[in-house]
Amino acid sequence: MENKLSLEFLRVVEQAAIASAHTMGLGDRHKADQMAVEAMRREMDTVGMDGTIVIGEGERDEAPMLFIGEKVGLAAKHKDNYPAVDIAVDPLEGTNLCATGEPNAITVLAASEAGGLLHAPDLYMEKIVVGPTCRGAVELDAPVKDNLKAIARRLDRLVEDLVVIVLDRPRHEKLINDIRSAGARIRLIGDGDLSAGIAAAVLGSGVHAVMGTGGAPEGVLTAAALKCLNGEIIARLVVSKPEQYERLAKMGVTDAKKIYKTEELAPGKKIIFACTGVTEGNILRGVRFFGEGVRTHSLVLTYDDRQVRFIDSVHLNKRPDAKVRFF
Ligand code: FBP
Repeated sequence: MENKLSLEFLRVVEQAAIASAHTMGLGDRHKADQMAVEAMRREMDTVGMDGTIVIGEGERDEAPMLFIGEKVGLAAKHKDNYPAVDIAVDPLEGTNLCATGEPNAITVLAASEAGGLLHAPDLYMEKIVVGPTCRGAVELDAPVKDNLKAIARRLDRLVEDLVVIVLDRPRHEKLINDIRSAGARIRLIGDGDLSAGIAAAVLGSGVHAVMGTGGAPEGVLTAAALKCLNGEIIARLVVSKPEQYERLAKMGVTDAKKIYKTEELAPGKKIIFACTGVTEGNILRGVRFFGEGVRTHSLVLTYDDRQVRFIDSVHLNKRPDAKVRFF
């Protein structure tokens, strides 16, 4: 399934990125998200699959499309024998980033055979994300300074030379102080711990770890990417209200305090991960409109055959004089 579908999913994230990039800097996060969602939904229905959204825009009553449980793909229209695929989407990761024109907004999709992605509820999740060299070196409950020392040792550098990405939130005050007192450097970001996590798994991105609490759906999507990149995410759901325990139980999560590893968040054997840059980012360029067409930069990962594709696409206008530039 992987090779054929991966290029189809590339088209899905590319079109979502182009649609949302039109709204960059307009200050309207809802419009930016809506454009991505509509484009993603439209493209998905042209993909030869029997798809089910397992992580999406929310429950059916709160999201008009890409809601959890929604059927997508050609199988919804034709009776042909298409492969069953579970799909997790974050149509626009970093809606604020797109609305303000800041870096690292991306459109994202992960897919697997049925049951290959944890059906994470829309809660927060504590996370530590590291790249392949540091797999197995960190623990969620270890003191921050110990984790940083372990990362530095694996990367053969000083703690002072590490860069840790943290979401800039009041809840991270202690974490930020702990990282600073350990001596590591911090990049505070307004949004987008998923794209930060992917960067942490790519050597040369200048990101060595991501720490802190962000969305659980983003955690599962990070796991899908990190599994393909041989990196690691360790994570635990943050459950604070009684009704959240009830919701978890309904979703089959019996141990709310469980520490998940990459493999448990994304157990699939046939994982596909695809994302496209909307605004300029750590490892992906943003969408560029150049008059005669649009240029997009994407990352497509397939687990089974371990393909990592950075894809530079030129979408030419349908004009006989449209030109392609090499750059
Ligand atoms: P969006 O997809 O809604 O733009 O999410 C952005 C994000 O910053 C994620 O990267 C992160 O996991 C989450 O929101 C953090 O949530 P909060 O803004 O509530 O702290």
